Amino acid sequence: MLKKIAILANGGDVAGFNAVIRGIVKTAENSGVEAYGFIDGYNGLLKNNYIKLSTAEDGTAEGILPKGGSIIGSSTNANVFNYKVINEEGEVEYKDLSDICVENIKNNGFDCIFTLGGDATQKSARDFSVKGINVIGVPKTIDNDVACTEITFGYNTAVSVAMEALDRLHTTGETHHRIMVLEVMGRYAGWIALESAIAGGADVALIPEIPYDIEKVASKIKNRQKRGKNFSVVVVSEGAKPKGGEMVIEGTRDNGIGVDNTKLGGIGKIVARQLEKITGLEARETTLGYMQRGGTPTAFDRVLSTKYGAKAMQLALEGKFGRLAVIKNGKLDDVSLEEVVGNNKKIGAVSGNTKESNIRKITMDNDLVKTARSVGINLGD
Ligand code: F6P
Repeated sequence: MLKKIAILANGGDVAGFNAVIRGIVKTAENSGVEAYGFIDGYNGLLKNNYIKLSTAEDGTAEGILPKGGSIIGSSTNANVFNYKVINEEGEVEYKDLSDICVENIKNNGFDCIFTLGGDATQKSARDFSVKGINVIGVPKTIDNDVACTEITFGYNTAVSVAMEALDRLHTTGETHHRIMVLEVMGRYAGWIALESAIAGGADVALIPEIPYDIEKVASKIKNRQKRGKNFSVVVVSEGAKPKGGEMVIEGTRDNGIGVDNTKLGGIGKIVARQLEKITGLEARETTLGYMQRGGTPTAFDRVLSTKYGAKAMQLALEGKFGRLAVIKNGKLDDVSLEEVVGNNKKIGAVSGNTKESNIRKITMDNDLVKTARSVGINLGD
């Protein structure tokens, strides 16, 4: 019998975090289970910092469905299996502090932990599951790159924000006869770029999965010019790279071993300058950045998040632990966290741009690729 569960939200925030929390809490309350939330993701689990979650009047989780962000915070790159600490000599050390988290869970009597997060979060979730903790994951990220699910919550909102930006860039680009370049997020996968390019009627979409040839992109723009279209709209995924080249790294942080410390960014500007040079047209670049993550979720994300939250709690009620709630063939389903991490089995190693990491990238047989090509969106190849 489940009595107490706790939720943690981890990784970069997305619209829909609160909707998932609400879905879990409401389903728990309907079954007489108490819900709690750790503050700031795995950091809260480590520090034993948590609050009671309730959807009763004036409860902490009341009225949160449309609210952006996360009412229990979130933490990027907190790998408690390889945690950065400063020792007494003032030196940086990396320690496995997961046993403290296990103790916290046991001492508080939490029967299950819900981990709302992306690939790195679910990798830690699986590692806790190996340590005997009852865990259920819910796939979050604007990047849509979590393995084993067809869609993550937060993604649709990010695509909608990017689409709106493209609509706006269209009108200013057309007015001033410019090439308008929009850099979007997505890390090592081009989902946001490709889907927003289709939704926003862009002329070019550059994604990490297809290294681009700038001359091919310029030809597309010049052909448009020949047809009297003196403006073009180009979407560039932050992880896009030229053929034979590398991704552009804006900075590297030091948040621990086994976490993705790479901050991508800057490719939009490079593409804009190159296109200006080759085509002779003026180009302007816009980086959409954190607009894609903040704010209220779309209707789609509210529904998806509620479905995910309810499904996750149902799994707990059925005693199905060590699972990730997923969408498979368009339907709610669940898979084992072992399957989600794939070959990335080493305890403490988190995901990122490594050969072991199991993130879901766009494959060339995907309908989005076929559709983009069919309607003449240049993919840089
Ligand atoms: O993974 C989500 C994401 O928003 C990526 O698209 C982006 O590269 C990254 O997070 C930015 O992370 P941070 O919040 O650490 O700047």
